[in-house]
Order: sequence, then C-alpha cells, then structure tokens
Amino acid sequence: MPVVENDVALAPLTSFELGGSARFYTKVETEAALVDALRWARGRGVRTTILAGGTNVVVLDDGFDGLVVHMALRGLRVGAHGELTVQAGVPWEEVVDEAIARGWAGIECLTGIPGSAGATPIQNVGAYGQRVSDVITGVRVLRTDSLAFEELSPEACRFTYRDSRFKQHPGRWVVCAVEFRLQPKGPPTRTYPEVARAVSETATLDEVRKAVRSLRRRKSMLLDPGDPNHRSAGSFFLNPILPVAETDRLIERARSEGLVSSESEVPRYDTEDGRVKLAAGWLIEKAGFTKGWRHGRVGLSTKHALALVHHGGGTAAELLALADAVRTRVEERFGVRLEREPRLIG
Ligand code: EPU
Repeated sequence: MPVVENDVALAPLTSFELGGSARFYTKVETEAALVDALRWARGRGVRTTILAGGTNVVVLDDGFDGLVVHMALRGLRVGAHGELTVQAGVPWEEVVDEAIARGWAGIECLTGIPGSAGATPIQNVGAYGQRVSDVITGVRVLRTDSLAFEELSPEACRFTYRDSRFKQHPGRWVVCAVEFRLQPKGPPTRTYPEVARAVSETATLDEVRKAVRSLRRRKSMLLDPGDPNHRSAGSFFLNPILPVAETDRLIERARSEGLVSSESEVPRYDTEDGRVKLAAGWLIEKAGFTKGWRHGRVGLSTKHALALVHHGGGTAAELLALADAVRTRVEERFGVRLEREPRLIG
C-alpha cells in the first residue's frame, strides 16, 4: 500500500511557487511503488498526475483533485563506453556532473537546466546547440493503461523541437528511466554563437560548461534563490517555427512598422526541415513588453522576456492572465500564436 497524504501544498514543490494543493499525494522511490500508486488511484477512481522536478509546470489555484505522484527514483548506472542509465527522479544536473567528471561529451551545454532527468525526453530538452534526443538511446516507460513496462527506442519517442510522443499523449506513459550514450574523450559542442564567442577552439568540456552556466546566469536561467527572477519555469513559450514565406511576411511587417531597420536584425535559425525558427523572446519585446515588465505580483524576467516570473504572493490565474496578454499582443502584432511550454496541473 502506498503512503498517501491528503491536501499537500504543491507550490513549494514547483519553481513558480504558486498554485493549490494535491487532494492526495505520494512520493515513489521505486518502480514497484510507482505501480502500487497507480493501482491505488485506479482502485478508487482517482485521477493521477506525475510531478518530478516541478520546474516546468504551473499548478492551478484550485490544485489537483486527484493523486499527485512525486517521482523520486534516484538510480544512476554507468557503463564502460559512455552509457549512462538514469532513473527519472535524478536531478538533471547530477547527470551532467557525472558526464563531465568522466570526460564524456554530449550534454555539457545542457548544464544549469533545472528539473529531473525523466523530464528531459518529454520535452526533448535542448540548449546551446545540444538536445537530449541526440544522445538518448532508449527510454524505459510504464504504460498507465496496462501497468506494463516498455523500452522505447529513440525513433519510437518521435523527438522534434521541444516535443516527443510523451508530450503528444500526456498520461499514456510514465518515464521511469532514460539511457544516454555519450562520447568518451569527445570534443565539446561550441556551435551556439554565444558559446563559440566565450571559449577558445581548444576549450575543454568543463570550460564549455562554465561558459554556458555563465550565459544562463546572465539570463536568469539558473535556478538561484538569490536571483529576483528565480520563481519561473525558464522559457514560458516555445520559439515558433514558421514556413519561409510567413517569416518573410513577418519581417517585412516589422520593417514597415519601423521595429527593425534591416532583416539582419531579426534573430532566426533555419531548421532541418526547411522552415525558420524565430525567437519568441524577441517577438515579445518587439510586441511592446520590455524585460522586467510587471503587473502586480507577476511579470517578465528582467533578463529575458521569454521567462514569466512570479514575484511572490501571486496566483496561477494572475500568471496565466499575463501569459494570455503576452500571447494576444504578439499575435496582434505579428500574426504568430505562441505556444505555452510549461504543463498545467489542475
Ligand atoms: N532575445 C530578445 N529578447 C529577449 C530574449 C532573447 O530579443 O528578452 C533574442 C536574443 O537577442 C537572441 C534570441 O532572442 O537573438 C535568442 O535568445 P536566446 O539565445 O536567449 O535563446 P532563446 O531562443 O530565447 C532557447 C531555449 C532556451 C535555451 C536557449 C539557448 C526555447 C523555448 N528556449 O531560448 O531554453 O536555454 O535557447 O539554447 O527553445 C527553456 O526552455 O526553459 C530554456 C531556457
């Protein structure tokens, strides 16, 4: 029988530090405990949701009227040739620590990302020129309908930019463990221009990691309780990916409205499928929201317009109203609808 607590406040378990309580709450440290928890809920007709690092979620003010299963499976197994098998509840930074300590390349640019290892395949975490889908060799999941474990290949996970089959079908699987294959003695990745500018061509893995950490710190994208922007989920919206023709129209509009004087001022990245990824942070600023813009107890980060921030004592409703206002203004100005990144719990 799982140990189930009643009416547990969820705000302290999330980086936004807001929202209501879980009607039922249990913490699971083993796969068997996870199965027991899901069985317990099923036997009582109670909804379930999974919470891990709590750094990419917004808990609604009414809380969750069901069982919150807090993933705390903490195993990490190291192979001889760059393999790391990590259980879902391991803090992601511990995985990066392990890789760097062994001189294994592949995730050094993914340093400073808050949250758990199990969340990384769900939204195909990526930053500074790397993404987990490049180094994942398998994901162990529990199917919530049959309560059977399955090992999914990377192809079966259908990874794309900040997306996967897990995100497409919320609740169908619980990620229990992730297998990575890194490159022993491999070179660090310096493809992101800001990283390439910050380190030399012969930089070590550790130097690249330090450079990325300092970039993230400058953007308030490190979870540091001393930073006034710390109550956030990092990027609140995805960067929109548009067909070339639509991008050209958007840039022309920005030029005719005097928002930019030349095309080269618009940050854009060509994607593998021939479309263009635009920077949502840039669109938000050009739509008229400055960094640090504040409305009561919520606002935009003073360092990065893409991060929404809670200043304390606020509500999820206030935060989501701000998100709506940002989204509406960007849509009015540019005809682009921003998509929310954090998951709602409620
Ligand atoms: N920009 C602005 N104003 C801002 C912020 C950014 O104009 O307030 C412009 C920058 O000048 C730059 C461009 O937007 O030209 C891109 O900015 P940045 O390099 O900071 O990256 P991003 O596209 O905003 C993405 C990820 C981040 C990741 C960085 C670095 C998404 C949604 N976000 O942000 O991921 O760290 O690239 O690779 O893809 C996260 O998901 O929580 C996250 C932090």
